[in-house]
Amino acid sequence: MVDDVTTEVLDQLTNGDAAAIERLLPQLSTSAVFDRARIDAMIGHTATDLVVARFNGGIVGMATLVTFPLLTGLRGHVDDVVVDETLRGRGIARKLLDAIMLLARSRQLRTLDLSSRPSRMPAIKLYESVGFERRDSVLMRYSPTRP
Ligand SMILES: CC(C)(COP(=O)(O)OP(=O)(O)OC[C@H]1O[C@@H](n2cnc3c(N)ncnc32)[C@H](O)[C@@H]1OP(=O)(O)O)[C@@H](O)C(=O)NCCC(=O)NCCS
Repeated sequence: MVDDVTTEVLDQLTNGDAAAIERLLPQLSTSAVFDRARIDAMIGHTATDLVVARFNGGIVGMATLVTFPLLTGLRGHVDDVVVDETLRGRGIARKLLDAIMLLARSRQLRTLDLSSRPSRMPAIKLYESVGFERRDSVLMRYSPTRP
């Protein structure tokens, strides 16, 4: 089955693709709110690549690569990794990560980072299985719009 799955960087959003992403979003985050305009803006943004996996023409998984220049070089961050719950365990996420890592190599990114909650064991195993290594770092967040 996974041999019939293709990956691509999404460059325009059809109604069918938007509906598929709307189905995938709650599987990624229960608090995520679907916003088509935000996805359109993201796809058109030079810093972001929404990589999608297709099976029988429909989107069945996705992952985002963010590429940004820093004083220390061109760096990347991976986000939004999710595969439809009915099609997990078939190598689709591995294919998405392979596509993102290929982009990272072709752009000669200095590093590619990601983070995941410790409870997301399948995701952590996935990242380790494709070559990501754990780092000893403190993850912090400031939320500018939170009262
Ligand atoms: C994490 C997720 C993307 C994996 O997608 P998937 O298509 O099922 O993963 P793959 O079939 O490509 O698995 C690749 C490797 O990941 C690891 N893996 C995936 N699912 C696993 C599980 N349930 N238990 C243990 N390891 C797992 C394995 O190493 C696997 O390789 P193997 O099959 O040779 O053992 C999917 O479970 C998902 O969408 N989860 C919900 C969203 C999420 O947590 N996203 C990550 C945000 S940080």
